[in-house]
Parts: sequence; structure tokens; C-alpha cells
Amino acid sequence: MSDVQLLPAVREFLASPKRLFIGGQWQDAAKGRHFAVENPATAQTICQVADGDEADVDAAVAAARAAFEGPWRWETPARRGYLLFRLAELIDAHAEELAQLITLENGKPIANARGEAASAANIIRYFAGWPTKIEGSTVPVSPASGAPMLNYTLREPVGVCALIVPWNFPLTMCVWKLGPALATGCTAVLKPAEQTPLVAVRLVQLIEQAGFPAGVVNLLTGFGMRTGAPLAAHADVDKIAFTGSTQVGRLIAQAATGNMKKVSLELGGKSPNIILPDADIARAAKGAADGIFYNQGQVCTAASRLYVHEKVLDQVLDELRRHAAAHVIGSGLNSSTTLGPLVSERQLGMVSGYLQRGVEEGAELICGGKRPEHLEHGHFIEPSVFLDRAERACVAREEIFGPVLTVMSWSDVDELAQRANDSPYGLAAGLWTNDLRAAHRLAAQLKAGSVWINCWNVVDPASPFGGYKQSGWGREMSKHVIDAYTETKSVFVDLA
Ligand code: NAI
Ligand code: MG
Repeated sequence: MSDVQLLPAVREFLASPKRLFIGGQWQDAAKGRHFAVENPATAQTICQVADGDEADVDAAVAAARAAFEGPWRWETPARRGYLLFRLAELIDAHAEELAQLITLENGKPIANARGEAASAANIIRYFAGWPTKIEGSTVPVSPASGAPMLNYTLREPVGVCALIVPWNFPLTMCVWKLGPALATGCTAVLKPAEQTPLVAVRLVQLIEQAGFPAGVVNLLTGFGMRTGAPLAAHADVDKIAFTGSTQVGRLIAQAATGNMKKVSLELGGKSPNIILPDADIARAAKGAADGIFYNQGQVCTAASRLYVHEKVLDQVLDELRRHAAAHVIGSGLNSSTTLGPLVSERQLGMVSGYLQRGVEEGAELICGGKRPEHLEHGHFIEPSVFLDRAERACVAREEIFGPVLTVMSWSDVDELAQRANDSPYGLAAGLWTNDLRAAHRLAAQLKAGSVWINCWNVVDPASPFGGYKQSGWGREMSKHVIDAYTETKSVFVDLA
């Protein structure tokens, strides 16, 4: 069932111990515990990984602190850029290994995992250009005394950063946070998700190989409560960057108040996607299907609410049925697969629960809705589409994080933005139209951090990414993320 042969390097990696990385040393967890990593396509254990807890958190934070106060703090910007460029080259050189690990532990189709590895190198390369361009300014101040006064600003790294990431893009999420942390001169303690620690371990091996000094990047594999929570609460962590559920985001924000650490959060979404009647309907329907089914729907920006103009509703539903049926469901290590398993039994349980409740609450199931019969093992679910005219069912309102689309129809353009904005989330929104005026008016009205016009899920390291409302705090990537990893110091010099 799988035609992708694992590379010898991947087999070797899986057979070798996967330890914590603290202060430049690979080491077992203080308590010597391990946990199993599962292949979601087979529900079989792949291997064991070190299971860190509070004692390991203390050690990793101390190592990150020592590196920050030590030579890393005074390393030249050019050297930081050079090391990041080396890391990008290493990611490219080991891209197939990284992709295979992503598919093994996350389940996604290998083509998508290869895309993730390629984009990780590009993101690190983008951040490699930053260290030499983070500038302060000279400020024309006006002292009351009239004395001559020089004022300038320094941009300094915020310090020790805790980076807690999820399993849906296990490599991308690491580099989105490591890139700016390392570019600005911070040090990091990285905590990957318990479902997908393998690609993070391999990435940190490459970081070591690139030549980053000991303690600059530390790795803690482990669970949310035992490893993530003490890291979020740690008094010697200066900043925490988190991507994951809104529920845990709230806990992190609370834990951060202990020492008022800086917080950035990328959380959930229930993003509206709008088809206007003038759109190229075939293209819009394909975009709508890709926007929800990509990565098995396990995307914070999934296009999960589709608003279709009533004139083109039947046509769009036909196209959606056709695109859903065209998906080849199976192991991501089969190169013809286009829809892999969900990441875990638990995720499958949550998505199945929504499929059932959607029907109970009166939404009409257009296609999908069950587990594919030919796949006994693994956490597979069919791509599914609901029509919910009343727009009240849970499937129209709550984040599902699975390949489940809910379609609504509309006729009044004046109500459209209000309906689209009627959500606690505000991560992304999109629209399909060739009407310039409608496109830009809606783009301005939609309360979302990303708006996609005639496209979906386009991200670029040069462009900011993040959420309005309960979708998060702050922005990742672009010049905006550099602000989030730096403090600005104002220096006054009396020249009298
Ligand atoms: P989660 O938010 O529990 O996990 C994300 C990361 O946070 C993992 O590394 C986890 O170990 C860590 N974590 C968990 N509890 C923590 C705590 N108390 N303190 C510090 N760190 C903690 O997400 P989970 O349980 O894997 O998925 C549940 C739902 O969350 C999904 O169904 C989806 O709706 C949403 N989610 C959203 C993501 C996004 O990209 N915005 C990514 C993953 C999940
Ligand atoms: Mg959780």
C-alpha cells in the first residue's frame, strides 16, 4: 500500500535513540521516561522518544539563559545570518528525510510533506537575511531645558524564548518560530507536539550540525501538561510563542502573567470563504475544496465556512461532490494518495463527533460523513460537505479541524460581511470574484488576519500572518515578527 521507500538515513534515525537536547548535549529525560510515537496511517508505534518533565524544563531554560548571557548575545549579526543560511542548506540537503519523517508521524501525503520541507528551508533563508538589518533610530527629542540631547534606540533580543508548537505542520511550525528567535539573537527552548516529535529531533540535529553554539537551541520532547505547562510558567523565560488550540492558548496567556513574559499566540479559526456570483465558478469550487481538504482539514486557516451566492449554489455543490469523490484516501507514503489519515484516534473521535452532531442539528450531509470502508486501520475519514441553510449547527460555527466543509447560501451582499464576521475567530477569510470593487470592499470589511482573493492558504515569509479576535495575539513572519522577538531600548545622552 505504500510505494515510497524509506531512506536508509530515515531507518537509521528511527533505530537510534531520540533524546532531549539541552546545552549542546543529547540526553535522556531526567526520569528516564519515554513515550511512543504512532504512525496514524497504521495505528502502529514507530519508535520511542524521551519524555521530558519539569526537571528537564529547568535544565533547558538554564542552558538557554547561559547561552543568551554568554557569547551568543554578542555574536555578530553577520555570523547569526551565516549560521541560518547554513541551516537552510542542511534542510535542503536532507529534505527527503525530513519529508518522510513528517509523513510517518503526521500522516500527510508525501507530496505535501515534501512541500513543507522545501518551504522550511525558504523560511530559514528569509530569516537569515534579517540579522544585519534590524536597526534602531535616532530620535529628534525636545528637552524642556533646551539642552542639547542625543536620543537613539537599540533593538535587543528579548531573551530566552519558549516555542510550543502543534502537530499539523510539524516542521513549518518549528521554523516559523526558530527563524525569528535566532535572527534576533534570542535563545530557544523548543517543545514540539507529542504526536510529532520526530521531525523536530531531526531538525535540531541539523541545527547542531550547522554550528549554532551550545544552549542556543534546546529541545524538549514531551506532553502538554508535563513539559509545556512548566515551560509556559517558568520565571526565567522571557517570551513564549505558541501555536495550537484556543483553549491552551488561554492557559499559556495566564501562565505567562507570573513574570509578565511576552506572549504571541496563533490559535484556532473558522474561516469564511465567499463565492460571488460573477466568479469563475469551477475555479472557485476547486479552491473551496482545496481550502478545506488540504492537510485533511487540520489547518488553522482551513476554509471551513463556505458562503455561496444562491444563484450558483447547485453548481458549486455539484463541483464540491466531484472534488471530494476524486480524493484518493490512504497512507501518505503511497504517492497517489491525496488525503491521508487524521493525526490521531482522538482527532478522529472529535471529527466523527462533529459529523454526527451536524446531522442531529439539522445540517444536510451532501457527501462523505463516514470512515472509508476499505481502510480498516489508521485514522481515516472521508472528505465531507454539509449544507446548513440556518447557519446554526455546530458544524457551521465551531472549529472542527478535519476535512469537513459547511456550506451556506447568501443573496444580500450587504449582510455578507456581517455574517462572515459573526465568529469568535478571525484568522483568515477569502473571496472569489472578478469584481474589483466588491473584492476590495469585502477585503476591508472582513475581520481576519489574512484575506485571500481568488486563492487560499497562500503564505509567504515576507508577509505577516496571524489572527484577529480569539485567533491569537501578534503576527508571525515578516518585519512584524522581528518586533515580537526584540525589545526597544531608548538611550538619552546629555550633550550639554
Ligand atoms: P493543543 O493546543 O493541546 O496542543 C498544541 C501544543 O501545545 C502541543 O505541543 C501540546 O503539547 C502543547 N500543550 C498542550 N497543553 C498545554 C499546556 N497546558 N501548557 C503548555 N503547552 C501545552 O492542541 P491539540 O490537543 O493537539 O488539538 C486540539 C485542537 O486544537 C484541534 O482539534 C484543533 O482544533 C486545535 N489545534 C489548532 C492548531 C492550530 O494550528 N491553530 C494546531 C493544533 C490543534
Ligand atoms: Mg490538547
